[in-house]
Amino acid sequence: MLNYQELYDKVNLCIDNMQYNAQPEGLYAPIKYVLDLGGKRIRPVLMLMAYNLYKDRVEDILPNAIALETYHNFTLLHDDLMDRADMRRGHLTVHKKWDDNTAILSGDAMLIMAYKLFIETANPHLPKAVKTFNAATLGVCDGQQYDVEFESRNDVREEEYMEMIRLKTSLLLACALKIGAELAGAPDEDADNLYQFGEKMGLAFQLQDDLLDVYGDPAVFGKQIGGDILCNKKTFMLINAFNLANPTQQAQLKAWIDKTDFVPAEKIQAVTAIYDAVGIKAICLDKIEQLFAQSLDCLAKVKVDETKKAELKAFADKLLKRNK
Ligand code: IPE
Ligand code: IPE
Ligand code: MG
Ligand code: MG
Ligand code: MG
Repeated sequence: MLNYQELYDKVNLCIDNMQYNAQPEGLYAPIKYVLDLGGKRIRPVLMLMAYNLYKDRVEDILPNAIALETYHNFTLLHDDLMDRADMRRGHLTVHKKWDDNTAILSGDAMLIMAYKLFIETANPHLPKAVKTFNAATLGVCDGQQYDVEFESRNDVREEEYMEMIRLKTSLLLACALKIGAELAGAPDEDADNLYQFGEKMGLAFQLQDDLLDVYGDPAVFGKQIGGDILCNKKTFMLINAFNLANPTQQAQLKAWIDKTDFVPAEKIQAVTAIYDAVGIKAICLDKIEQLFAQSLDCLAKVKVDETKKAELKAFADKLLKRNK
């Protein structure tokens, strides 16, 4: 079994060697820019790890893994535009470094590049894997739409939030694992259990992302701290903080959400102070732990040697304790 670092290196080498059209430079330079900024590469690594449970030569599905990473990076270009985010991976986002139209069109091109790459491998299970990929990628759009709609709603329930993050984030992690298993010719039952492992892990992963958006170190996290607060994102933290807050704190939270003219740093500070007062960080960490435990239950059902699954388990554990 190859470990995270070995798979990460293979993925990065492949991305380094990616060929881009030279012209128009305005379309392709941003694509190279964002892919070269790195990132954790978790989706391709998960795909390769799942494949590696059954097959040794992970190189055979590298195009599929890179396709998924390209798709993920496409979602980031559009997501940063939708979230008005200026920083990503410690650098300016594409729409800030270039402009909005560039983020839209370079993103569109990346989506197409992802699909081109995905069907490059001559694998007998490819049609099945394409279906899995399609189901996830359309689901991400559903999730992103809910995420934006929730910004202007104040009655979002925790269940709705969980379903939204399942769509926008979990589906991609889950499909990465399922596709890896499918391309390896694994039994359907294993592929489904790996999918569910990814789904639960993805929920925990997004909760951790939301937590870092408030409590992360900007130099390490690479994104602007407080971005979700500024956008009125209805995160697990905001929903639960509001429910736990006393009437005075509830009125303050509501006032900050409704305010259209404010100093960004003041809003972030005020909302974070209420989060601190109700102890939302510990509640969120507890939820992450619960979801992680549920994800491991799904992994336990996958019928391969325990020693082989250890790498996946360790990776998931590290991911949920990450600070970037
Ligand atoms: C960011 O994904 C988008 C979320 C689903 C939270 P990652 O945290 O995997 O971003 P990179 O690719 O490592 O930068
Ligand atoms: C990410 O959600 C979901 C997708 C990119 C599809 P976020 O908006 O929380 O991701 P970051 O924090 O910008 O990476
Ligand atoms: Mg975002
Ligand atoms: Mg977003
Ligand atoms: Mg986020």
